[in-house]
Amino acid sequence: MTKPHPQVDRTAVVAAISTTNTYSKKHHSRNASSFSCYSPKLSLFLLAICVTLFILFQIQSLHNPPPSSPSSSTSWSFIHQWQKVKNYKEDLKSMAEKLRNAVTFLPLKDLRYSDKALQGHTWFMSSMYDYHEEGEVQYQQFPSESSQNRLLCLKGRETHDGSWNYYALSWPETLPHNATLLKGLAFVSYNHYDYGNIWHGLSAMVPFVAWHHKNNCEFPSRWILYHWGELRLGMGLWLKTLMEATFNGEPNIERFDGVNEDEPVCFEKAVVMRHNEGGMSRDRRMEVYDLMRCKARIYCNVSLEKKDDDKAIGMTLFMRTGPRSFSNESAVVGIFQKQCAKVDGCRLTVAYSNNLTFCEQVELMGKTDILVSPHGAQLTNMFLMDRNSSVMEFFPKGWLKLAGVGQFVYHWIASWSGMRHQGAWRDPDGDTCPYSEDDRRCMSVYKNGRIGYNETHFAEWSANVLHEVKTRKLEIGKQKQNDSASISYGSCGCG
Ligand SMILES: *[C@@H]1O[C@H](CO)[C@@H](O)[C@H](O)[C@H]1NC(C)=O
Ligand SMILES: *[C@@H]1O[C@H](CO)[C@@H](O)[C@H](O)[C@H]1NC(C)=O
Ligand SMILES: *[C@@H]1O[C@H](CO)[C@@H](O)[C@H](O)[C@H]1NC(C)=O
Ligand SMILES: *[C@@H]1O[C@H](CO)[C@@H](O)[C@H](O)[C@H]1NC(C)=O
Ligand SMILES: *[C@@H]1O[C@H](CO)[C@@H](O)[C@H](O)[C@H]1NC(C)=O
Ligand SMILES: *[C@@H]1O[C@H](CO)[C@@H](O)[C@H](O)[C@H]1NC(C)=O
Ligand SMILES: *[C@@H]1O[C@H](CO)[C@@H](O)[C@H](O)[C@H]1NC(C)=O
Repeated sequence: MTKPHPQVDRTAVVAAISTTNTYSKKHHSRNASSFSCYSPKLSLFLLAICVTLFILFQIQSLHNPPPSSPSSSTSWSFIHQWQKVKNYKEDLKSMAEKLRNAVTFLPLKDLRYSDKALQGHTWFMSSMYDYHEEGEVQYQQFPSESSQNRLLCLKGRETHDGSWNYYALSWPETLPHNATLLKGLAFVSYNHYDYGNIWHGLSAMVPFVAWHHKNNCEFPSRWILYHWGELRLGMGLWLKTLMEATFNGEPNIERFDGVNEDEPVCFEKAVVMRHNEGGMSRDRRMEVYDLMRCKARIYCNVSLEKKDDDKAIGMTLFMRTGPRSFSNESAVVGIFQKQCAKVDGCRLTVAYSNNLTFCEQVELMGKTDILVSPHGAQLTNMFLMDRNSSVMEFFPKGWLKLAGVGQFVYHWIASWSGMRHQGAWRDPDGDTCPYSEDDRRCMSVYKNGRIGYNETHFAEWSANVLHEVKTRKLEIGKQKQNDSASISYGSCGCG
């Protein structure tokens, strides 16, 4: 630098190549000696280039910050990072605590809808929407996408007032305080009626069987039964046995024993049904009844192989005792016996619903092609007959006008389970009501009325039904010879 090369724009070069002193020195001296330029114009030009390069370099280094060099800043940076992680952890902890505390329990029974329970709305878990695919059962599932992967939690052991039972949703990582997590699949049922009556009980079970059928035959670990939001601890024996047959084991009905009062219970997986079969297509329903029929027959050791005798026609008079029984049974039996005797292969059976076990009913229905029975819960057994079997129903006086839509339930179940409802006979005679015929008060008189008979009508009607059944059986018999192996009940379509 001490060389007396005059006016070489040393500063510019030094500024441009400032990385190391030695290099810039060499560089400078060599270049300086090779350039014999004394022009101030050139100096300005070089200066401009160098400034530009410098700026470009700075911009470049802004885009690609150099990896932090091992310097005294390292420990500071580590402490900083660690502090950050610690803060995150504390944030998460307090966030989790907030979420835990934010789990909001709402009453299972929403009294705002108490007068609309049957009009599409339900007072049970009223803040939740059902998942509904066309033709399928309507249900809620937890966890699921629509629950944002939250689980269902219940404080729901109250058996007298449903508005004292509560539900909430919670993420599995932030379950409410003191919550018990129950493993496995829970079936949560809402039934507006009860689980003792076989018709109402079955209506509440059908959607669960449909869900089971659709979801790889997944089995429930427990059942939680509600009626008006109140916990129910049992179901009728007929229904319980049907569920035991369908789900390969006695239903485990949750009682929340061993859980302290006011402490929540959360379910690893839960399926909630509150609309019975509502929304299900006829085909879906038939699949469900097919499955239950098949499972019941296996459970009861009833042969699934039909007798080779295709001509056999089973006609069963399924009698009631007390209300809605035939007032002259022997006369009624006599009429049907006479018609049955006229048809080759017809066998008449007279049975009483009140003293048959579940399996005896399954067996009886298995050999019945024509079910003759008064209106009543025992008719629910009709789905246990082979598909396309016939039902003949009988009503006492006064029901058509006064009994409401409920009197048609056996028309419905016939349709849903693939049976043929061959009509109903309504007795024109019966007890007299002190009020006018249309007065609602008369229903209490007619409700438990008994049923007479009309020999002419019963004879014609049964002859027609017998003829139809015989014709169909002959056709099926012909088809069977050609594809006898096509019906495989082996696993009932579900394990
Ligand atoms: C959880 O249970 C303990 C012991 O029973 C009780 O002391 C505590 O208050 C409960 N916590 C909450 C939030 O209910
Ligand atoms: C069905 O048969 C099996 C084996 O033969 C027997 O263990 C079972 O108890 C029977 N079930 C019924 C309902 O009769
Ligand atoms: C029942 O009907 C039969 C045949 O019609 C008749 O002989 C008998 O007297 C009737 N019994 C009663 C109790 O009405
Ligand atoms: C079943 O009940 C009916 C009507 O009460 C009765 O007539 C019949 O004898 C009973 N059968 C058996 C096996 O108990
Ligand atoms: C029932 O009847 C319908 C209409 O006649 C027929 O298509 C169907 O195959 C029958 N089902 C069975 C199981 O016999
Ligand atoms: C009995 O049924 C026949 C045929 O349906 C009908 O013509 C007749 O009027 C009925 N008899 C009575 C007493 O209702
Ligand atoms: C069954 O097969 C036979 C001969 O293979 C044929 O003649 C008959 O029409 C078939 N029956 C039905 C119902 O398909």
